[in-house]
Amino acid sequence: MSRPTAPAVLYTRDQIQATVRRLAGEITADYATKKPLVIGILKGSFMFMADLVRELDFPLEMDFVRVSSYGQARRSSGKITVVQGIRTPVKDRHVLVVEDIVDSGLSLRFVLDSLRRKKPASIEVCCLLDKPARRAVPVPVNYTGFETPDKFLVGYGLDWAEQYRNLPDICYLEEIPR
Ligand code: PRP
Repeated sequence: MSRPTAPAVLYTRDQIQATVRRLAGEITADYATKKPLVIGILKGSFMFMADLVRELDFPLEMDFVRVSSYGQARRSSGKITVVQGIRTPVKDRHVLVVEDIVDSGLSLRFVLDSLRRKKPASIEVCCLLDKPARRAVPVPVNYTGFETPDKFLVGYGLDWAEQYRNLPDICYLEEIPR
């Protein structure tokens, strides 16, 4: 598969850092005494999660779920696959789900539905990037980093065909090979 044109920067690493710190401040105000279970949705959230939790200076636990909906495609297939489930007990915990991007909302809804069945004390969502124009199902997002335009985003954990996750800025691709 050939690479598309070079990614253009949408949010710089400095803007991302400032936004992560703002989110961490909001989360700290709400969770500092709750010993939350912070659950990252892999793979896309790995970089955001790593930066966010380093800004949270209070007791917490972490775990990860790995789901996949896009495969190699540009748009969500709508079929969510659990690649790796969560092992940490969720019952009666205050759960904060960390997601890199909410697009259709299908991945997040799937994860929230499965976590709710485990009877947490509470469950909230922090997403770095929210693309409301693409929403297919309503999902609650309690902490939002950037509300983004409807562009194909890569970098800072986000991929196109597994490439570009390592870019330190959040970028967009103008043309995507189909
Ligand atoms: C991406 C992204 C979100 C999801 C958002 O994950 O990381 O989890 O899609 O899209 P949605 O709101 O339309 O469901 P993907 O399935 O591509 O897996 P990845 O995180 O491993 O890249």
